[in-house]
Amino acid sequence: MTESENVLTQIEAHVATLTINRPEKRNALNDATRCQLVSALEELRQNGDVRVVIVTGAGDKAFVAGADIGEFEARTSVDQFRVMQGPSVYAALDEFPKPVIAAISGFCLGGGLELAMACDIRIAADTAKLGQPEINLGIIPGGGGTQRLPRLAGLGGALKLLYTGELIDAAEALRLRIVDEVVPGGELLKRARALADSIAQKSPIALQLIKEAVRVSVRTSLDEGLRHEIALFGIAFTSGDKREGVQAFREKRPAKFEGR
Ligand code: COA
Repeated sequence: MTESENVLTQIEAHVATLTINRPEKRNALNDATRCQLVSALEELRQNGDVRVVIVTGAGDKAFVAGADIGEFEARTSVDQFRVMQGPSVYAALDEFPKPVIAAISGFCLGGGLELAMACDIRIAADTAKLGQPEINLGIIPGGGGTQRLPRLAGLGGALKLLYTGELIDAAEALRLRIVDEVVPGGELLKRARALADSIAQKSPIALQLIKEAVRVSVRTSLDEGLRHEIALFGIAFTSGDKREGVQAFREKRPAKFEGR
């Protein structure tokens, strides 16, 4: 386990768990936490042993209760602009080349929901509460909420949450497709870990190519996306993992992928 002040990193059997660790502040994202998250993600990106990442919050009260509101008061708009132009944890997650699972317990609000939405897959505890309450502070989301939420929940579902700031429970978040799975609270990390373990058995190269192809799918036309997919398929086809996968199938044994 490595620890920076507000972010804990634990690596075990190809799976890294990043824990946002300010439970006394409901894991609110202050500047220090955001920077530490960006650095931790960069380390995990470079660590060839890590194949899948789980992002979660310390304690069961919150995943992340949003940006640290305490930092808002004294800040000018220029200060805030500089912060938002700096290293972005949302961009770091979006561009992260390995699968990332958000394990959500308790409050997942504002920047917390934006963080979760920048991950690939969201698993929520049945006790989770999610929302974009920025409207109640007289501001709007600034970490992708107005862009990613409609892509998951559709325009009406997203606008309702964004206009009202209302919090929804995990079952409603599942219905709106904001989360992908809901599990009993006590089983959250176990389930996230089981999913991460199963993904970590696959070819790291193929996983990265799938992520890249799917990222492109929400940013481009179908024709362009299909062409991109063919190019990426060509890369997968030349990999040692492809050789191993096909050979393992012929030998009727599980494949052992090495990311080559
Ligand atoms: N920023 C800074 N501090 C926060 C915070 C945030 N987003 N969310 C919670 N905290 C702090 C509280 O100020 C409190 O600190 P204190 O003990 O020093 O007073 C501590 O975390 C516990 O919060 P509290 O409100 O007492 O806990 P709760 O369980 O009753 O309520 C929330 C939890 C998340 C519902 C409530 O704290 C809240 O509404 N937070 C703001 C959510 C928000 O608007 N997020 C979007 C920001 S853009």
